[in-house]
Amino acid sequence: MQRNTQLSILRELQRQLRDRVNIDAGVQYRNPASSYTCPDLARKEWETFFRNHPQVIGLSGDLPQPGSFMVADDFGVPVLATRDRDGAFHAFLNSCRHRGVRVANAPRGTAGSFMCPFHHWSYANTGDLLNVPRAADFGPIDKSCHGLVRLPAEEKCGLLIVHPQPDGELNSAELLGDLGPEIDSWNFDSLVYTGETVLRNDLNWKLANDTFGETYHFGRLHKDTLGKLFHGDALAYQEFGRNHRFVWATKNIDALQDLPEEEWDYSQSTGWIYYLFPNIQLTGGASDANLIKIYPDADNPGRSITRVHHYFSAEIMATAAAQDATTKEDVYNPNRTPSISAVSEIFDSTIEQEDYLMGETTQKTAEAGLVKEFIFGRNEPALHHYHNTYREALNLPPLEPVD
Ligand code: FES
Ligand SMILES: [Fe+2]
Repeated sequence: MQRNTQLSILRELQRQLRDRVNIDAGVQYRNPASSYTCPDLARKEWETFFRNHPQVIGLSGDLPQPGSFMVADDFGVPVLATRDRDGAFHAFLNSCRHRGVRVANAPRGTAGSFMCPFHHWSYANTGDLLNVPRAADFGPIDKSCHGLVRLPAEEKCGLLIVHPQPDGELNSAELLGDLGPEIDSWNFDSLVYTGETVLRNDLNWKLANDTFGETYHFGRLHKDTLGKLFHGDALAYQEFGRNHRFVWATKNIDALQDLPEEEWDYSQSTGWIYYLFPNIQLTGGASDANLIKIYPDADNPGRSITRVHHYFSAEIMATAAAQDATTKEDVYNPNRTPSISAVSEIFDSTIEQEDYLMGETTQKTAEAGLVKEFIFGRNEPALHHYHNTYREALNLPPLEPVD
């Protein structure tokens, strides 16, 4: 990330905190409550944004070595992602060419080949069909054209990106746009995958996304948790086409006023999220990261699935491993270095037990049908952007401003 961008963000956050003003989009919008409940809209979203749109399935660290594999099943197409012996990333339909049975059943692991459990056809991690048992009995089969069905796949800026359709167009550079070089600069590809948490909750997938869209609630909803570490009501925000960068201040920013700018530490003084259209919230990048993947429940607009992948740098893991602190309280104690599991646990529990809890009650209100709209404030521009972006992608009219 460019140093002058970091400095201008730090100056802007300090200005807001000093003047006790949050970011100002200059407009408020009305968001129809039906956007969280309408089955027709949910079907369109599922087809457009999930079954037929490129998906970020992980960071490079999800496939840490030659022979690594993982599966992804959340967007309506069963995917098997692999790293071959040369380190190249591949994605396939996780389905045998004989009669369609799933060939990889573990969520992730290491394997040079995959054997279908039904009749034991086997496939290399490059997708090639290797063996057909009792081939003479089965009859002729041209192995060269019966490998696993290949899906477009690119590893870009440390992101593993797959298109769920074999003939789908995947252009990662275009997807990331002007944000690509900045994401690349964090070296996400050097981070180590440490685990995944799955949250299944009663809220629309967009309501789940909304919880990552403003700092207005930080000091209120999170006052006893993240609010101890972060300032609320201050946001440095920038749009990059359909994506955006969302930066807030940590309490460490208070010390910067006594330091010359060349000593300002961006990573210590801020927290940040890159929102990648349509369903990714990517936090961190310097020494740790969380990849938050949010999916609708294809059968119920009122439910969603969130997968949070956790990553840390090798250096952090070495430091954290030396600490015996594993309680959540250590995360808030400046004199302790919390373990990576404590850091991840606090991250997940804040999402589920604080943010998503709010969203679940909004979902109930929307489903009751008595409230027609909700309001996005001038201090919530990421919500304006997110909702107007997906609406535009579905040829829906933009949100209506509040007069
Ligand atoms: S379905 Fe896979 S070997 Fe028969
Ligand atoms: Fe929150």
